[in-house]
Amino acid sequence: MSATSYSAYWESPSNIALVKYWGKYGEQLPCNPSISFTLNQALSKTSVTATTKTNASTLEFDFEFEGQANAAFADKMRPFLQRLSEDMPWMLQYHLNIQSSNTFPHSSGIASSASAYSALALCFCSLHEQISGQALDMFFQTASHYARIGSGSACRSVYGGFNLWGTCNELPDSANEYAINIDDLVHPVFKHFQDTILIVERGKKSVSSTAGHALLKQHPFAEKRFNIAQQQTGQLLGILKSGDLAAFIQLVESEAYMLHAMMMTSSTPFMLMKPNTLAIIEKIIEHRNKTGLHVLFTLDAGANVHVLYPEAEKAAILPWIQSELVGYCQNELYFCNEVGKGPQSK
Ligand code: DP6
Repeated sequence: MSATSYSAYWESPSNIALVKYWGKYGEQLPCNPSISFTLNQALSKTSVTATTKTNASTLEFDFEFEGQANAAFADKMRPFLQRLSEDMPWMLQYHLNIQSSNTFPHSSGIASSASAYSALALCFCSLHEQISGQALDMFFQTASHYARIGSGSACRSVYGGFNLWGTCNELPDSANEYAINIDDLVHPVFKHFQDTILIVERGKKSVSSTAGHALLKQHPFAEKRFNIAQQQTGQLLGILKSGDLAAFIQLVESEAYMLHAMMMTSSTPFMLMKPNTLAIIEKIIEHRNKTGLHVLFTLDAGANVHVLYPEAEKAAILPWIQSELVGYCQNELYFCNEVGKGPQSK
């Protein structure tokens, strides 16, 4: 009998959180809601080809990253695929060939788990539809659910624009299991917001997100943080609706400070900011106070700085970033992004 093959391809972007997810329980469920916007440039491009095989009882896959077999990534991915196969048992009947590449250099310090797992989850949802012959009821919501199981923040990358993950009082449709798109609730001033990512430090993070999240379990301030994040989520929803940039700056920067404060005050404390992170933050605040421009920063779990600003102020702010801030980057490395349209299948 000749082998039968099915293929799926998705390219999916990374996202930047404004209210941060930091702390999880159960099967990667968040201790508080988070809000992010999807980027337009930092993409993972992934294809999965499923070919029938004779042994139909074990998971069999090979994984190539940027054209080369990559055992370390494959080991990381195995529990995710195993878990997926519980819900998609057809996966055991096929040999799975997974090819992935990123549009940003690996080890550039840009988190790749969000783009990687959202692209993978989308591919498996597409294959599921092809192989079962049935359309999924809520395709992107289902993909978000599975992306979450791979990496929490990945569930916010299956849609473009602004997204919320985690149950919050303000939105009855919100859920801990998957993200929802909130673009309809966002003022035009935010629709093309810019994110210039300044690479202060390339390379692997000194603390993995999973280890970081785990430290919240024993953290003396954990409950307080989760409550504040709940409140900030409600407030940010209001700000996104009204277009109040001053309030946006205050809230988003406070989230970045608090994320790093939680790291510094955990039982195994760690400090991911570097001297150049602080130098950039100081410059941003000084420049904003001097000019009145709406330039602000946020951080993820690392030393790099995301410089955020409205599209309408790009002509004034980007040249300033290039002349005053890029000098603090490792090898002057930076990436220009803006709010993106979300994943695409070709
Ligand atoms: C600081 O999604 O990378 O970027 O669920 O363990 O894969 P895992 O963690 P991950 O955590 C992201 C943390 C963050 C904040 C955020 O993106 O909300």
